[in-house]
Amino acid sequence: MLRQKPKLKKLLRNIDLQSLFFQSSIEDIEIFFYKDSKKFIEDDYCQLYYLYDKKQAVVIGYFTLSMGSVRHEKDIPIKKYVERIPSTLIGRLGIHKFYERKGWGTDLVKEAISLIIKLSQKIGCRCVYVDSLTTLNAILFYLNLGFNFLDKNLGQMILKQLKDQKKPQKNSIKMYFDLKKIKK
Ligand SMILES: CC(C)(COP(=O)(O)OP(=O)(O)OC[C@H]1O[C@@H](n2cnc3c(N)ncnc32)[C@H](O)[C@@H]1OP(=O)(O)O)[C@@H](O)C(=O)NCCC(=O)NCCS
Repeated sequence: MLRQKPKLKKLLRNIDLQSLFFQSSIEDIEIFFYKDSKKFIEDDYCQLYYLYDKKQAVVIGYFTLSMGSVRHEKDIPIKKYVERIPSTLIGRLGIHKFYERKGWGTDLVKEAISLIIKLSQKIGCRCVYVDSLTTLNAILFYLNLGFNFLDKNLGQMILKQLKDQKKPQKNSIKMYFDLKKIKK
């Protein structure tokens, strides 16, 4: 079915956040949106992009982007020039809880990646990375998009624990996507 795709918007510094409606199944993602996002933007720690459903007056989902780097671990099949690989961080990603599992998260990450690829024409950037929550849905979501664990053994162990319904010790795990996989 064809759906009309909303345009990605950048969160402006002067926007009244209370005029936007967003709810997440993860409290921290909602709190960041309403309480912290503006100061992060004002202090140049990130930019925030979101999709807005005009008809329902709802924020479908958002992500943040910041400059960063990933340590060159032994599992990463990328030529090693320096200790850290220039990369962009998707710091937060959240889909409105009523819009989950409908493909919006995938759309948002693809939008983020195409934005980063454009930026990488101006500033060197080899990978995109995330600090994924260690929940089964977040990890499966990123694996499905082609992200890999920075530390493969740790990732596999956490995945197994989650599948066995055990709680992992770590709350988050780093995953990366090599932009060379899709860059022409
Ligand atoms: C994780 C999140 C961003 C995914 O976005 P989404 O729009 O729900 O995901 P999509 O519909 O694009 O899912 C794409 C694929 O990811 C995987 N996936 C997503 N949610 C899943 C779940 N609950 N269980 C298993 N696989 C899942 C599936 O392979 C899915 O494809 P399919 O639906 O064809 O099987 C969203 O659910 C969310 O905001 N969750 C709460 C916050 C969070 O966990 N943020 C990310 C971690 S920092």
